[in-house]
Amino acid sequence: MPFRPEEIGGWLARYGERPVVATVGSHSALDVADGAVREGFRTLLLCQAGRERTYSQYFRAHRSADGSVERGCVDEVRSYARFADAFTSAELATLRERSALLVPNRALSSYVPLSTIEDELSLPLVGSRRLLRIEERTERDNYYALLEAGGLPIPRPFPRPEAIDGLAIVKLPHATRRLERGFFTVASPAEYEQKSRALLAAGTIAPEDLARARIERYIVGPVFNFNFFFSPLAPRAEGLELLGVDERRESSLDGLVRLPAAQQLELPSAARIPEYTVVGHGTLTVRESILEEVFRWGEKFVEVARAKYPPGIIGPFCLQTVIDPDGHLTIFDVAVRIGGGTNVHLDVGHPYGNALWRMPMSSGRRLAREIRSALASGRLAEIVT
Ligand SMILES: Nc1ncnc2c1ncn2[C@@H]1O[C@H](COP(=O)(O)OP(=O)(O)O)[C@@H](O)[C@H]1O
Ligand SMILES: [Mg+2]
Repeated sequence: MPFRPEEIGGWLARYGERPVVATVGSHSALDVADGAVREGFRTLLLCQAGRERTYSQYFRAHRSADGSVERGCVDEVRSYARFADAFTSAELATLRERSALLVPNRALSSYVPLSTIEDELSLPLVGSRRLLRIEERTERDNYYALLEAGGLPIPRPFPRPEAIDGLAIVKLPHATRRLERGFFTVASPAEYEQKSRALLAAGTIAPEDLARARIERYIVGPVFNFNFFFSPLAPRAEGLELLGVDERRESSLDGLVRLPAAQQLELPSAARIPEYTVVGHGTLTVRESILEEVFRWGEKFVEVARAKYPPGIIGPFCLQTVIDPDGHLTIFDVAVRIGGGTNVHLDVGHPYGNALWRMPMSSGRRLAREIRSALASGRLAEIVT
């Protein structure tokens, strides 16, 4: 059932004093749940049957009689045959009765159609609902268009394979594992032909995806994912915070680079093309002189997102970058919600977040703290959409 944005105020008016922090049980859910518990909230995870034991068993919260948490961080798990079943009209009504504030993550926007999230998911989302769609590279108004509009640096696109004049990355989904990547790198039109033919023949990629693939300059350098937070409640000069930086471990890429060159050359040719499936994260800091630029692009992103998609960024977001030898950033991807790597600062916080807040400050805790201060100042409506 479609809802109108004007209804959100009415839902909030009926919410109890202490809403429940809810999120889809995958991606960054542990960080969100841990942070929510730290800030005094109860937590509710929407899980898919068969994928819930992490939450329902291993991180289940044990509370003492006074409500304080002695173990774990997940108060309640609701399981569904499929994630999308969490968002039927009846279930949404139940979640509203429970005063659920939904924190959007990539699991939500991967498993639930964006049109459902935009028009039918009748729960207050802590964040900016309309922005989620820009993460889809196949959309015309995608994050690249937003970054360009804001004057932020992106890898140079190659409009056609024939235009490839140096190392490039071709971005398209995996043919069968649709949520994973079928990316490959090429350095010339001839190599594009040869590699794409091999991947098509192997069934790794599909022709219709290849026709719509994004081809862009491959930037050689280390990847830094900057986990920011923007508070619309704070004075503007204090609105932008850098909480932490993560990097990814991608399979098979990270395994390949751990092989000596001689062994790489022994691999069968198909295994020499790396896959980019994210399987874990590590934590990083960045050379201090680079931080000025990091904040500059963070500010510009906040501004252009607000101009193009009001109310713009609310809460956590992530700029995924490659840094070149001059210390300059190129942004190849963005998350307009909590990033996938924030579990690196789960509970321990991160040097930057901690240095700012004078206490362990993870993305999850920062989010919950924002909800808490919005509740205290009667401004909850400003951080939900
Ligand atoms: N232009 C680029 N230059 C260098 N590496 C890139 C570039 N674009 C993507 N990558 C690599 O591919 C990975 C996945 O790319 P990304 O655009 O983040 O895809 P997804 O949307 O699937 O997360 C990155 O973590 C990075 O290692
Ligand atoms: Mg990415």
